Parts: sequence; C-alpha cells; structure tokens
Amino acid sequence: MFEIKNIDGCAKSGIFKTVHGDIKTPVFMNVGTAAAIKGAVSTVDLKNINTQVELSNTYHLHVRPGDKIVKEMGGLHKFMNWDRPILTDSGGFQVFSLAKLRKIKEEGVYFNSHVDGRKIFMGPEESMQIQSNLASTIAMAFDECPSSMADREYVKKSVDRTTRWLIRCKNEIERLNSLEDTINKNQMLFGINQGAIFDDIRIEHAKEISDLNLDGYAIGGLAVGESHEEMYHVIEKVVPYLPSNKPVYLMGVGTPSNILEAVERGVDFFDCVYPSRNGRHGHVYTNHGKLNLLNKKYELDQRPIEEGCGCEACTHFTRGYIRHLLKAKEMLGMRLCVLHNLYFYNNMMEEIRQAIDNNEFAAYKKRKIDGFNAGE
Ligand code: GUN
Ligand code: ZN
Repeated sequence: MFEIKNIDGCAKSGIFKTVHGDIKTPVFMNVGTAAAIKGAVSTVDLKNINTQVELSNTYHLHVRPGDKIVKEMGGLHKFMNWDRPILTDSGGFQVFSLAKLRKIKEEGVYFNSHVDGRKIFMGPEESMQIQSNLASTIAMAFDECPSSMADREYVKKSVDRTTRWLIRCKNEIERLNSLEDTINKNQMLFGINQGAIFDDIRIEHAKEISDLNLDGYAIGGLAVGESHEEMYHVIEKVVPYLPSNKPVYLMGVGTPSNILEAVERGVDFFDCVYPSRNGRHGHVYTNHGKLNLLNKKYELDQRPIEEGCGCEACTHFTRGYIRHLLKAKEMLGMRLCVLHNLYFYNNMMEEIRQAIDNNEFAAYKKRKIDGFNAGE
C-alpha cells in the first residue's frame, strides 16, 4: 500500500507499507548485490547510516551460494540479519550485462555463469521461484533490457516479450505466495517499463503493464548509454502513464543530480552502485561536489570529508588520515569512504522528503545542484 503524504509539483513524498516495515519515499536503496554491501559494510552499519531498503540480486545469489541454501538458512533477511525491507532485482539485467554466451528465447534466457561457466536457464518462472526462495520483500519482474544501440524493430519485439514475461511472473508469484512452505507469502511484484528511447513504445508498454495492477512500477533500460537529457525525457513521457497510486522506481540511477531531477519528475525509488563503487576508489560526495581523496592536496587536510556530516568517517577521522589509509590500501580507508557516501545519499533523500513536505522542493533542488557545481 502506497500512502501519498504530500505532492509538490510532480515530486511526491509518501509511505510504502510492507510486511518488513514502512518505507519513506523518495528512497535510495543501498546495493548489496551478493547479500553484502561491497566495502566491508555490514547490516549493522546499514542501520547506523539510516538505510531503509537493502537491494540484492537474484542472478548472483542463484549462482552463489544458491537460492535453495539461502532458503534453508531461513531466507535472505535471516541470512544477512536485516529485518527491514529487501528488494531483489530479477536477474534479467545482470544476465544481459554479466553472463557469457546468452541466448534469448520466448521461454527465457540460456547463459553461462560468470563464476564457473556452467550452463543456466532462467525464465520468468525460475526468476520468481528464486526470489521466492530468497523471500525478499519486493520481487522485480524478469525483463530484457535491450542495448542502447538496438534498433526500433528489435526493441519493439523485445518489449512485447517482456510484457508476456511479466504476465508469467505475475501468475507464478501468485502461485508461490499461496504455497505452504513459502517464507514470505506477501511478496510483492514490481513490473518494469522498457522501450529504450522510443517514446511511443515506452508509452504503449506503460499502459499495458499499468492494467496488471502490480504493487509498483519501475522504469528500466535507462543509464545504459543514452544522454542525461534523453533519460529525463523518457521519465517525463512515461510517468504520466503509470498508476498515480503506485510507487515509481528508476532502476540503476544515479548521481545525486540525476536523483534530484528524477524526483522532480515523479520518481519515488532509486538504487545505484555509485556511492559504494566510488567510495571504494576514494571518491567521496559532498555538498560541494565529489572529491578524490587520493589527491595530494588532502595529505595534510585536518577537516572531515564533510563538515557537519553525521557518518562514522566524518565524526571521527580527517581527510588526511583517510587518504593515508587509501594510499596504504588499508581496507578501513575504503570502508569509511563507502559509509560516508551511503550516508550522504540516505541523508539527501531525507532532505528531499522534508523539502517536499514543506512544498519547497524546487528551491531545495536548485540550492543543492548549485552547491555541487560550485566546488570547494
Ligand atoms: N537495473 C538497471 N536497469 C535495469 C533494467 O532495465 N532491468 C532490470 N531488471 N534491472 C535493472
Ligand atoms: Zn560523512
């Protein structure tokens, strides 16, 4: 159930109710692909940085350790000791971006594991069965994310198949949720809009999937090579055709500015590897832009990454010390940068929710982006 709290332009704040607790939106989900946030960050840390939702991947957990093992361990929540909502991506996108030698058929996708090369088949039913074994709060539909280079004819064929797959996902999750030994019998399903940058295909697909009355709707197939302007254009075109009483999730996006632009266009859920991946490389977000802590100018810098930030890194350590840790390849350096970046994203989402509640989102967004662009 999605309760909308306030609407400010096209931006909205709300509460998405789940069996694992309420999610305040707009929300940034913290990516823990293989049931771990890369950078030695545990679920205890996630609570300390105010993470609301953890995101894991069907494909990775199916390949290793295996979803049946996770189920025997009591499901993903118990396995990683996280009692708040978890969203699992369906495997579709990861199969297309990671696996080798894949073959797409009507029934699903044949591919070789990126870990040991073994042959695997995944279709809509298999993806739902794996996600049901993982027992995530929200399962994503099994989709194809066509390459940004794909032509119109291919995209149309692919999107029609993704619609047929979505109907199979819906039937399968309903069946699984009714089984006696299913861990989360209230597992929710989000559909995924595709169509590359073809407005009419996107809109037609959005209308078709809206009729299926799913728990939420994602916009997929973006941030895969198109420009930011093309991405914002697709969001503007698609959002009006998705149900206004369901959350909209923009998959795999993005920079802090991308998020502000998308919230302004009606998006409620986000996820992205940027804060953790950049943190592992010593790149940290601040209100005055991104810093590269490996830069020599931070060698004697006594300041925290960001003055006033409440994260573990900023409340205890200097830029100069963290730079040393990174240079010495001490794991702690990465960990502190990842914690700061995730805190920065989670905290920005809290500010966004407040700004929307106060009907001042446009002014907040301008102030924030001006700050990012101004630098230190
Ligand atoms: N993550 C980022 N983009 C996508 C997408 O188009 N589909 C899926 N399933 N996951 C994604
Ligand atoms: Zn910090």
